Amino acid sequence: MPPKRLPEGRRKIKTLERVLSKAGAGSRTDARSWIAAGGVCVNGRPVLDPDYWVDLDSDKVTLNGKPLRKAAPAYLLLYKPTGYLTTWKDPQGRPTVYDLTGDAGMWLSPVGRLDLDTSGLLIMTNDNAFAEYLTNPEHAVPKTYQVKAGTLLTDDQITRLRDGVSLKDGVTRPAIVTRLRESARNTFLEITITEGRNRQVRRMLEVVDSGVRKLVRTAIGPVRIGDLPIGKWRMLTAEELKSLGWTNPSTSERPQRPRSKSREYSNRYSRKSGNETPAPRLEARSSPSDRQGKHPRPKR
Ligand code: URA
Repeated sequence: MPPKRLPEGRRKIKTLERVLSKAGAGSRTDARSWIAAGGVCVNGRPVLDPDYWVDLDSDKVTLNGKPLRKAAPAYLLLYKPTGYLTTWKDPQGRPTVYDLTGDAGMWLSPVGRLDLDTSGLLIMTNDNAFAEYLTNPEHAVPKTYQVKAGTLLTDDQITRLRDGVSLKDGVTRPAIVTRLRESARNTFLEITITEGRNRQVRRMLEVVDSGVRKLVRTAIGPVRIGDLPIGKWRMLTAEELKSLGWTNPSTSERPQRPRSKSREYSNRYSRKSGNETPAPRLEARSSPSDRQGKHPRPKR
């Protein structure tokens, strides 16, 4: 079958490979192999081209003879250890978050990313609108990190982090920064930011002439990692989704898109509000890197 041309200005058009992976059927690699094996039909005819354009409004896609159904929306919270990538496959063969969540039994994508050396709360979902909502800086969903700075920090350095520092991709938004405590050589901070730029916290600390020794994301909005063991996952509860301003479409007639949360969040979750549960100490858990051996890479 000749590949369809992508019509201009049409919106609900996706490649066949993407249609399969977004429906939660499997990864894009899985999708490519099913397509190559001839198991995928569009309007009753096998299509062997993963880049074949599918019109979601009118084309009927089947996988091994069964109509492709959109997977129920699912929202998973993983305590990502250090040493795991938030990508599906790594050319260097390093472990990925899929090694830890494979037993969830569905295809979910990480919402945003955490660096290899960052541990903590990672949400994975098949609900693209929710992922977009959490990551779009316009929505200003706060992400909270505990940081072990590479040096002792002065009040002036902390004030600069709070007010916004100049990075090569622009000045950072005001952040909530709390000095938690000090050791002989390091300051421990809690930082809440409402953007999610690449390596943002690390770059912020570099700009104030320090660095990051350890970085753990402890919360997204009011959702906290709690006492979930490192390397383990659980599903987000309906209450947690609601607290993020999201109604699970499978439990309600209509998903609710929240308004911009910027002001509301900074009022509700600022440490001054007294509205939040205390965050765990950075070393309250065994160090993620210390525990690397406890997460042997499962076979794919
Ligand atoms: N900021 C960083 O520097 N790294 C992360 O992984 C997350 C936020």
